[in-house]
Amino acid sequence: MTEQTETSQRPVLVVDFGAQYAQLIARRVREAGVYSEIVPHTATAAEIAAKGPVALVLSGGPSSVYEEGAPRLDPAVFDLGVPTLGICYGFQVMAQTLGGEVANTGLREYGATDAALTGDGGVLLGGQPAEQNVWMSHGDQVSKAPEGFEVLASTGATKVAAFGNYEKCFYGVQWHPEVKHSDYGQKVLENFLHKAAGLANDWNSGNVIAEQVARIREQVGTGRVLSALSGGVDSAVSTALVHEAVGDQLVAVFIDHGLLRKGEREQVEQDYVASTGVRLITVDARETFLSALAGVSDPEQKRKIIGREFIRAFEKVQADLIAEAAAEGDPIRFLVQGTLYPDVVESGGGTGTANIKSHHNVGGLPEDLQFELVEPLRTLFKDEVRAIGRELGLPAEIVGRQPFPGPGLGIRIVGEVTADRLEILREADAIARFELTQAGLDGEIWQCPVVLLADVRSVGVQGDGRTYGHPIVLRPVSSEDAMTADWTRLPYDVLSKISNRITNEVREVNRVVLDVTSKPPGTIEWE
Ligand code: XMP
Repeated sequence: MTEQTETSQRPVLVVDFGAQYAQLIARRVREAGVYSEIVPHTATAAEIAAKGPVALVLSGGPSSVYEEGAPRLDPAVFDLGVPTLGICYGFQVMAQTLGGEVANTGLREYGATDAALTGDGGVLLGGQPAEQNVWMSHGDQVSKAPEGFEVLASTGATKVAAFGNYEKCFYGVQWHPEVKHSDYGQKVLENFLHKAAGLANDWNSGNVIAEQVARIREQVGTGRVLSALSGGVDSAVSTALVHEAVGDQLVAVFIDHGLLRKGEREQVEQDYVASTGVRLITVDARETFLSALAGVSDPEQKRKIIGREFIRAFEKVQADLIAEAAAEGDPIRFLVQGTLYPDVVESGGGTGTANIKSHHNVGGLPEDLQFELVEPLRTLFKDEVRAIGRELGLPAEIVGRQPFPGPGLGIRIVGEVTADRLEILREADAIARFELTQAGLDGEIWQCPVVLLADVRSVGVQGDGRTYGHPIVLRPVSSEDAMTADWTRLPYDVLSKISNRITNEVREVNRVVLDVTSKPPGTIEWE
């Protein structure tokens, strides 16, 4: 996959020096209403110039600038005449490349640190309190600013904690403005983008839709398009966008594999169709999946079976549709996929340093499909996709939906998947989801898998009798990107309510337990 500038907007390029900072910075830049993309630090000045950037942000990273082999930036990048902000490691690279000094003084700063403005803080920090709380994470520091630079802030351990060269529009901060723990972090980014670089705040869901609609029309022309809806946010929004662009040239396919959560099929078949007017074909493959899964407990084997059956079901309906289209003399040439920007970046398309993770597409479609892909969300992050979904008028239940694995409840039953067990899990999951939403906790939770330990039974007592039921595990996690996660500290009264309701209302469940493991070492799903 090659990275390409896919919008007509000229981007702010975030130069990635490693770790996970670049993604977060790109998101914060977009939150400031300016389009941004990530490039690896190995990009040459010519490659960077070719993308026509309106500004550059040099990210933090785990290295030390004067170490052998430390990541560097082509020095000619600083001759491009593009406004540039250096952050943490990027700040040190900027200082070193432009003739300043970086040293290991033995003074480290990690976590919340007090920074004091020097003078009025210049355009970057002007108007902010003279003292502010910033988030630091560094061992080295800039010991001398390059010539032409003014020091804008300092801390107890770091004399040069921020600097600026007004003439060249080069700025830098030692701290991490992209993390929420830096009190005025977003303001620092906004000052750089809007005031220093003079960029307008005009990247929003409205103009993304208009731009994507035009782009899709150009790509597809009068061709026919197929889309697989999974019930999740990404496929729902990408399908709706394509429908907005080409109307009835699109047909959507939804495969009910019987591993969906309560109400999902109805939401897609009724609410989604009502709000988009999309032509939808539902394939009821519940029986096929269940019989293929009979007697299987091994998680990897379950995944394989579900993937295989999904492909079979899709190929069957695809063959029918292709035959129908061919009879009308108009073959189906395009397939919609809800690929997001983090998938592109993680797959190595955006940066040379990010972790490589093979991304799961919509339920694992066959690789040899002879379609041209339409991927209208390729430049977007999840929260932007949600904003577009809302703007397109999609049902709140679908737009707000937590990430849900393609193999569905099939991997949230530890043990064999049966119709009865699915019913138990569906009920428990619906209760947990309802109560979390009622308590207003959806924003704090990345996702909350509800897991049935089908092979475990324990003794309990209910009414006058002894029970021998299954435990349900609640796995609420907070995360930025699912690569790492922490367990969400849910209020006890909400947990108590969920537990009471599940044990009272769901036959066969006599215990509810809470998973308090971070990722790593645990994964988010149980399986
Ligand atoms: P783990 O369990 O690896 O999950 O920590 C990370 C994220 O990926 C989701 N997940 C999947 N998504 N197909 C998907 O579309 C899958 O097979 C799959 N397995 C895990 C999981 O829900 C979490 O958000």
